Amino acid sequence: MLDQPAFRAELSAHYDLAPSTALAQSMSDAYARMSRVVSPPDFAVHAPYIAAINRLKVERNAVILAHNYMTPEIYHGVADVVGDSLQLAIKATEVEADVIVQCGVHFMAETSKILNPAKTVLIPDMEAGCSLAESITAEGVAEMRRRYPGAPVVTYVNTTAEVKAASDICCTSSNAAQIVAAIEGDTVIMTPDKYLAQNVAKQVPHKRIVWWDGACIVHERFTAQDLRDFRDWNPDTRIIAHPECPPDVVAEADFSGSTSGIIDYVTRERPGKAMLVTECSMASNIADELPDIDFVGPCNMCPYMKKITLEKILWSLHTMQGAVEVDAAVAARARIAVERMIDMSRRLAA
Ligand code: 13P
Ligand code: SF4
Repeated sequence: MLDQPAFRAELSAHYDLAPSTALAQSMSDAYARMSRVVSPPDFAVHAPYIAAINRLKVERNAVILAHNYMTPEIYHGVADVVGDSLQLAIKATEVEADVIVQCGVHFMAETSKILNPAKTVLIPDMEAGCSLAESITAEGVAEMRRRYPGAPVVTYVNTTAEVKAASDICCTSSNAAQIVAAIEGDTVIMTPDKYLAQNVAKQVPHKRIVWWDGACIVHERFTAQDLRDFRDWNPDTRIIAHPECPPDVVAEADFSGSTSGIIDYVTRERPGKAMLVTECSMASNIADELPDIDFVGPCNMCPYMKKITLEKILWSLHTMQGAVEVDAAVAARARIAVERMIDMSRRLAA
């Protein structure tokens, strides 16, 4: 846990972080990308942090990889690359900078470290976890292998390095169905997200999919009844759900896809009204780019993603604290599972 008064005092001693309307006005390009969702007074608070982080990135030869669930001031203000889990993992293989600051959750930073053992990978808050990653250990994978001998293990990237190391191949929400369809074996073990597995099972009916009993605390809270009620009240709304939602929720939706799949869908389809059945920042991050779309309806906040703030990003770049380390032997085995996924995704997309 960061000692907030102490780290605030240290930051204030080195940077002018007082809200500044003048600085905010000088960053009109960045503000134009979030003006529908961030008020001018709030942007005046963010502007000094954005300016300091962008300066420090150059000094430290750092890049910021940010997940689609980051808040708009991070997503549009300081990120060099934004994307879903697969895009960030692929981008991590191409980074030339010495330092990666992972604005997302811990398993994402671990994936970047696994793919870049010689680089410094920082996460601004070590406590940015994930309910899926916490739901399974390597022993859980071993237990599934004992229960279903010979079945390949396809593990969601939302897991620790140890769990990846115990698996045959990783997947993300954007490639899970293709990987399960392509992998050898009539029975496939999917860990740890039972809902992603159940949604994949519908798309790959010729295989028997068995799963671990994990769930995302953000997506499991949506219900099919919520979606039906919303559609009754607002019939012309396009409903789009992330595949971590329960299958009856996905069945009620017009489209289901990874976070970037959702962005691509609404960008292409341009519905007048859209309800994104996922984390709240998703709609905020694309609201200015898609001014013709009215984003409506409920969303849920991921408490882990929301641990990442501009202040903590500045702190990690200032102190270079928060470096993610992965045991070399574990990383070597986990890298095989992650690289297999990336290779298979590239082959399937070609
Ligand atoms: P995506 O791979 O779709 O970005 O999902 C990651 C995640 O954690 C969603 O909850
Ligand atoms: Fe994990 Fe769910 Fe948060 Fe994604 S949204 S990081 S799956 S808890």
